Amino acid sequence: MHNIAVFGAGYIGLVTGACLAQLGHRVTVRDIQPRRVDALRRGEVPIYEPGLGELIAENWERLWFTLDAREALRAAEVAFICVDTPPTSSGDADLSRIWSVVEDLRGAPRLTTLVMKSTVPVGTGDQVRSALDAAGMAHVGYASNPEFTAEGTAIRDFLKPDRIVVGAADPAVSDLVAELHRGIDGPVQTVSVASAEMAKVASNALLATKVTFINEIAAVCEATGADVEEVAVVVGLDHRLGPHFLRAGVGYGGSCFPKDARALRATASNCGLPLPLLGAVIEINDLQARRAVARLKSQLGGLRGRRVALLGLTFKPDTDDMRQAPSAVIAARLLSEGATVTGWDPMAPQLTDNPWDLVERKDSVLAAVADCDAAVLVTEWPELKDVDWGKAAEVMGDPLLFDGRNLLDPAEQVRHGFTYMSVGRLT
Ligand code: UGA
Repeated sequence: MHNIAVFGAGYIGLVTGACLAQLGHRVTVRDIQPRRVDALRRGEVPIYEPGLGELIAENWERLWFTLDAREALRAAEVAFICVDTPPTSSGDADLSRIWSVVEDLRGAPRLTTLVMKSTVPVGTGDQVRSALDAAGMAHVGYASNPEFTAEGTAIRDFLKPDRIVVGAADPAVSDLVAELHRGIDGPVQTVSVASAEMAKVASNALLATKVTFINEIAAVCEATGADVEEVAVVVGLDHRLGPHFLRAGVGYGGSCFPKDARALRATASNCGLPLPLLGAVIEINDLQARRAVARLKSQLGGLRGRRVALLGLTFKPDTDDMRQAPSAVIAARLLSEGATVTGWDPMAPQLTDNPWDLVERKDSVLAAVADCDAAVLVTEWPELKDVDWGKAAEVMGDPLLFDGRNLLDPAEQVRHGFTYMSVGRLT
């Protein structure tokens, strides 16, 4: 058992803190937002992540929440940095929150090890090492321990990982970080700090590339009469390629792929390397949601005065996260073409900024699609499989359904009376 301070009570910090407590450690999570800390102290979880509330409740006697860095560090031997590293206007990651935590570590009485979980550009570990040395904390060991948890499945991904990556210069530090994960069934891969940092962004970039590749193939399928779902099954049966991340759709979103792809490209550019493959992935993905609107526009013969329902607004199911959600691009494009837009989502917060201030939120799918010319399925919430689509077709005028995630059965939707469109599939 170790005493651990976790800096950052966002998705990564809360999942990391709760899972470390589950492994038997005593964990104090520190955040700088008073409302967030107050809510957590009352036992309320400020984000939606399946199983997280239960895990926090189960480990309540080993978990504390505080605004005060000193309190978090009073007993801590290990500190985890789990703050966000949002993109700056140049595409480089903004590391200001990281530097502020490093500053907070000064004078920590029992600290022996600092572990970086936040996604950072390659080379950050070296800079943190220098900052620790300069601040009189040369005795504090440093490790990069990137996370590979996806929203919606984060607890399972943490506790049953494909790998636990530990990047450290000092074998004693690697051993300690590996020991912190004792009880987890997953191989520990010990590498250099720079390799751990690179492996994290390379993994996300390759996954984003895989999604983008199948989206490109889907467009060719549409033009040639092949079916991307069938193609993906066949491709995925090759064990060298694997079946995952081959679901065609309206493009990837979220707080990770778009940001990490851009940050990796920025890192390469800073070294004078253009990275054309990743550049193409970023560009193609930026087009994907717009392409969906263009197809809808051409099918409807224009969007002005049309009423369109967006079904599913979060960037993926099982999260309340709207960051870089394709729904925002689709909503903005529809509105700027003169359409009226309604929206349904079981978890998305009611946002008030553009374009959401102009999207009429409804609390059921049927209410969202009523009197609409078209419905666009943007996020594959499982609930959407159970909708009474026959009824939905009835309450729409001349119903058009654009299934942006290939969730539904085309033949069945046609039977319900829909003009049915999807991504790279035969109707
Ligand atoms: C991603 C990675 O999967 C995690 O391993 C990583 O730890 C995390 O980023 C991170 O860096 O923190 P996440 O962004 O939560 O996790 O979600 P994913 O399930 O990877 O989905 C990313 C996007 O790709 C979503 O918009 C999803 O709809 C899209 N996607 C995914 C597809 O369009 N098709 C697919 O086949 C798979």
